Amino acid sequence: MFDIQGAISLVFELLWTLIKVNYETIRGMWRVVVPPEPKDVKDDVIFITGTGHGIGREVALRFAKLGGTIVCVDINASSNEETVKLIKQEKGKAHSYQCDVTDRAAVMQLAERVSREVGDVSILINNAGIMPCKPVLKQTEQEIKLMNNININANLWTIQAFLPSMIARNHGHIVAMSSMAGLMGLTNLVPYCGSKYAVRGIMEALAVELLDDPRQLNGIKFTTICPYIVDTGLCKKPRIRFQNLMKVVTAGEAADMIVDAVRREIVEITLPYELHYLNRYIYRLLPFPAARAWNAFFNTGVDSHE
Ligand SMILES: NC(=O)c1ccc[n+]([C@@H]2O[C@H](COP(=O)([O-])OP(=O)(O)OC[C@H]3O[C@@H](n4cnc5c(N)ncnc54)[C@H](O)[C@@H]3O)[C@@H](O)[C@H]2O)c1
Repeated sequence: MFDIQGAISLVFELLWTLIKVNYETIRGMWRVVVPPEPKDVKDDVIFITGTGHGIGREVALRFAKLGGTIVCVDINASSNEETVKLIKQEKGKAHSYQCDVTDRAAVMQLAERVSREVGDVSILINNAGIMPCKPVLKQTEQEIKLMNNININANLWTIQAFLPSMIARNHGHIVAMSSMAGLMGLTNLVPYCGSKYAVRGIMEALAVELLDDPRQLNGIKFTTICPYIVDTGLCKKPRIRFQNLMKVVTAGEAADMIVDAVRREIVEITLPYELHYLNRYIYRLLPFPAARAWNAFFNTGVDSHE
């Protein structure tokens, strides 16, 4: 027999869903025009991996200038100490810890130490990463495993280390460094693209898992950063046809945009910003061969190191 009550309640549920979908769509568009105010980070303990060089160092310097307490983590002790020295010269608060973030036990031990010596981490920035750049058949098993351990697994170890205390306080912010290579496939970067797509997957799934949690953990925020090319030396042979459109940014410029995105709690950004719209509303809407034709025109990518 036809269940009229069930049908009516389904119609109401659908209408309510449509209202919510439209409201959130308009709110999202409004947020692009008028972004939320940047949050204060003076009381935050900010744990950043890969602070010994490049983007990680510049992000650490900027958050320290804003008054946050920075936990600098790198496998390279001396370059990491140098970052802490630079922060302290500017009267900032920073602590240096040497850690190989691929080692889960070491990450767990470090988390305990940081909580004892510095306090509860409220912003976690998973930045450390490497980028072997050559055709897939030339990449060795060792290179691929190491890259996945740093670029993917280390994100999971630090999340497992710091998420429990964020959940307990319903407060925190997890930031991950993906890449434009996590939004589109690129020649010479097959394993790297896989690792950066994985980072975006981890971040999206984590946000969904926490939103589905009955404890209503809406105090934990997520930001994924997708830089194109930043002149840190990581990307050794960039190839760019239209420099103005897809410009190489300095580590300092990238850090300014990253810190701003974190403070405004933006879910995902590309650096430069425009690439997000090019990717989402042009590249992804086209059939693959049409998107390839645009790629050929832009002739942009990364040449092999070898
Ligand atoms: N530079 C770019 O063009 C670019 C573009 C897109 C995405 N990214 C991403 O941004 C992040 C930072 O890149 P970058 O250019 O600043 O790199 P970088 O090479 O300048 O610095 C990386 C830092 O991570 C540290 N590190 C490496 N392995 C580690 C480990 N196992 N444990 C702890 N620390 C480790 C290194 O010692 C170094 O200090 C990476 O995840 C990278 O994939 C960079």
